[in-house]
Amino acid sequence: MSPMLLVTRKILPETNQLCNTMAQEIQSLVREHRGAKPFSIALAGGSTPKRLYETLARPPFLQRIPWEKVAFYFGDERSVPPEHPDSNYHMAKEAMFDRLPSVQVYRMEAEAEDLDASAASYEGLLREQLTRDEERAPVFDLILLGIGNDGHTASLFPGTSALEETQKLVVANDVPQLQTKRMSLTYPLLNAAQRVWILVTGINKRQIVADCLQSQTPEEDRTKWPVLGVQPTSGNLIWWLDRDAASNLSP
Ligand code: 6PG
Repeated sequence: MSPMLLVTRKILPETNQLCNTMAQEIQSLVREHRGAKPFSIALAGGSTPKRLYETLARPPFLQRIPWEKVAFYFGDERSVPPEHPDSNYHMAKEAMFDRLPSVQVYRMEAEAEDLDASAASYEGLLREQLTRDEERAPVFDLILLGIGNDGHTASLFPGTSALEETQKLVVANDVPQLQTKRMSLTYPLLNAAQRVWILVTGINKRQIVADCLQSQTPEEDRTKWPVLGVQPTSGNLIWWLDRDAASNLSP
């Protein structure tokens, strides 16, 4: 783990309190954001973040966040069309985009026949939109992630080739345990972000949360639990947990 990495844990009793606190923080970050480019957020998929997206898309955040200053991207996507119920874009659209005033959304086209080409195209978009210094990877203002019970994050699953990627920022990742391919951001891009937030809720995730946050050997354990490879060089990593997800953490 990078020497400067400060892993912060923010634990709130109930999921709705957690989502409101996160939404409040996003509101502050967007309102304070300066610069010609929008505040860039890479969204997590799966089911956990849906409550957060719904919170952002209803009062008071719906009115208080200057949505014209925000651009949404994705951390990963399943290889299905955007209207498919398994699509991360579909979830975010139903939970949030459809309720917001017009907002910039850059979808991963993971339904493409040639997923490698589509991943390269998305990387080109990110380099064009988010690059601050030609010498370095593009920088997201905020990347939201979740974790699976196997310790995967985005679509960086244990034992998959994307874990070894050091050059490409977006890849098509073969996930044999799911018998599918997925598009995913890779560690070089995740770890270039200004800030990374990992959102985990529910009693079912309490053991993987404890395993990861209490790992004494994160560099070894990152192959077993890929979320441990998320070590933003900015040093800004927050685990947002509700009481249930945090319930196996030792005091
Ligand atoms: C995805 C997500 C993935 C997710 C975890 C947790 O496409 O599935 O990006 O990384 O965060 O699988 O999913 P749940 O929130 O549904 O438990």
